[in-house]
Amino acid sequence: MRRLIAGNWKMNGTIASLSEIVKLDEMVTTDIARGCDVLICPPATLLRPAKSSAPAGRIAIGAQDCHAEKSGAFTGDLSAEMLVEAGARYIIVGHSERRAAHGETDADVCAKAEAAIGAGAVAIICVGESKGQRESGEALDVVEAQIRGSVPEDGDISKLVIAYEPVWAIGTGLTPKNEDIAEMHAAIRAQLMALFGDKASQIRILYGGSMKPDNAADILGIANVDGGLIGGASLKAESFFAIIAAA
Ligand code: PGA
Repeated sequence: MRRLIAGNWKMNGTIASLSEIVKLDEMVTTDIARGCDVLICPPATLLRPAKSSAPAGRIAIGAQDCHAEKSGAFTGDLSAEMLVEAGARYIIVGHSERRAAHGETDADVCAKAEAAIGAGAVAIICVGESKGQRESGEALDVVEAQIRGSVPEDGDISKLVIAYEPVWAIGTGLTPKNEDIAEMHAAIRAQLMALFGDKASQIRILYGGSMKPDNAADILGIANVDGGLIGGASLKAESFFAIIAAA
């Protein structure tokens, strides 16, 4: 399966940061791009200029969130259609920072994923357990419930990506043991196969949470890890490219 290496800039980056995309665009040669899909999700204000900064089309641009509705009285929100029009080919939904800080439920995330797919984007649906849930042995159950609640069952699976991001690994420099990542990704794959049948073998399952140049090859070598969702290390072209090269 073609890997996806996705950068999530979160609320970082201004026009000056586009130079990193210009640099990355030079590094991601046709040869590299043949091997894996590369994506950067900058703040929504940078979608259009980010797309122009990578004119070769080897780096896809995506958004970090969308509203579930197409339009209406939702001050400050952006619809999936608007984001796609601005250049987003992928839309991240249900990132743990949004689940925590904006109270997004599985049902909200599912509605956003449907909106993203409906607008023609690929939805990257994020799931992951907290530290307490991992320590009390609930991680598999928590993630299974999040997938059950957040993944649209009638969605076009070619427009579906899952990102497993343990909350306690995000931005902390901590990562799960390889066998824990393997166990979780296998469980997610089995659940997707139960939901969608054999074709679910084609759904990419990304790992996210402190993926860096020095652990990327190791993590990307685990079965059912089909790419990465990278925060901090995606902000600089050099470190993000090192992860792409590892894929
Ligand atoms: P991190 O973030 O790579 O900085 O841990 C990952 C994410 O939140 O998507």
